[in-house]
Amino acid sequence: MSYHLSARREFLRFLAASPLAAQALAQNPTGPYTPAYMAPASAKDALDVMDFEPLARKALPPAHWGYMATGVDDDLTLNMNREAFHHYQLRARRLVDVAAVDLKTEVLGVPWDMPIYISAVGSQRAFHPQGELATARAAKAKKAMQMLSTTTSTPVEEVAKALGRPPWFQLYMPPMWSETEKLVKRVEAAGCPVLVWTIDLLGGRNTETASRFARQDTRECLSCHATSPKAGANTSNMAGKPMLDGLSGAMNPPEATWAYVDRLKKLTKMKLILKGIDIGEDARLAREHGVDAVIVSNHGGRATETGRGTIDILPEVVDAVGPQFPVLVDGGFRRGSDIYKALAIGARAVGLGRAYIYGLSAFGQEGVERVLDILRDELTLTMRQCGTPTLAQITRASLLRNGTRI
Ligand code: GLV
Repeated sequence: MSYHLSARREFLRFLAASPLAAQALAQNPTGPYTPAYMAPASAKDALDVMDFEPLARKALPPAHWGYMATGVDDDLTLNMNREAFHHYQLRARRLVDVAAVDLKTEVLGVPWDMPIYISAVGSQRAFHPQGELATARAAKAKKAMQMLSTTTSTPVEEVAKALGRPPWFQLYMPPMWSETEKLVKRVEAAGCPVLVWTIDLLGGRNTETASRFARQDTRECLSCHATSPKAGANTSNMAGKPMLDGLSGAMNPPEATWAYVDRLKKLTKMKLILKGIDIGEDARLAREHGVDAVIVSNHGGRATETGRGTIDILPEVVDAVGPQFPVLVDGGFRRGSDIYKALAIGARAVGLGRAYIYGLSAFGQEGVERVLDILRDELTLTMRQCGTPTLAQITRASLLRNGTRI
């Protein structure tokens, strides 16, 4: 029997056994079939990254879910990060030998197994008891780079042990320079090779949806937190976090300027990346100030409201600094084809945030591993389908925006 016929027979058997699917077809016999959500029983049963999201929501208390999953004001930038991908289409080459696909790349002189990394998300013990350690073990198993947040619930020294090497460190800058020095020196002493200063959250924010979720939470926050998220989840004071031991807990000086970049560069031997570069002018300034790379990011839609999706920002930033300067990107990546689109525009690598936190919340280390596997496999498949088996072959020739070459 041909594969096609046996697959069709399998499908009909599945329909007969599935009252939900049969009902959906009966209601809309000619329209597209939208499968009912079936929660994966284990991490390996997840078919795509989105499969983890409802499980994460179920697993987490409302305040923790709300803190992680939502944006600012009306959540427009948050949603735009996802929506923007739908305006891009792939241009596929045919009859290219795609039997072997190579995802290897190099970032800041270091070889990476794939152009996908674990970006910083704070307070991971709010999502799973093993928090950042589970993430680090998954990153180690899947050979992914991990970036650790200043607001980590596990100290950098412990994460480095679980990861088998020091992570990149994402800096929320304390306003007092003496505290910045102390924090940066601690991170340097832990062996972190790269400092990633997050500059998109220096003006404050209004995490309204998170506050609404927090109000539904009946637990006593102050039994675990130094501050109560019910007062409005934000990152302006994070006393109690292990990387801020001995510091005041204040962060994100609104008076920061490019002079602070120069000061940071003088302070540390670590490579310096600016995270949250969202226009070409700033990308150029970053390069002029000797920064080693930039990350296009809108903080997962958690900072400036009514911004663009990061995939729409990327061309402007890549064009401003030229193809040799490393530009990384994060924001709403959930499919291998999303990652492919960013690589085609010129990103060196793509960071994951909520995608792996959903996996972590649902299944701990195994969930994070499965998210990394799914995205690696989907990216591999997209590279095959587009006739671009190496990263060097993925260029803007593989991409359209609203049907037009970019
Ligand atoms: C931390 O980075 C946050 O957005 O809350």
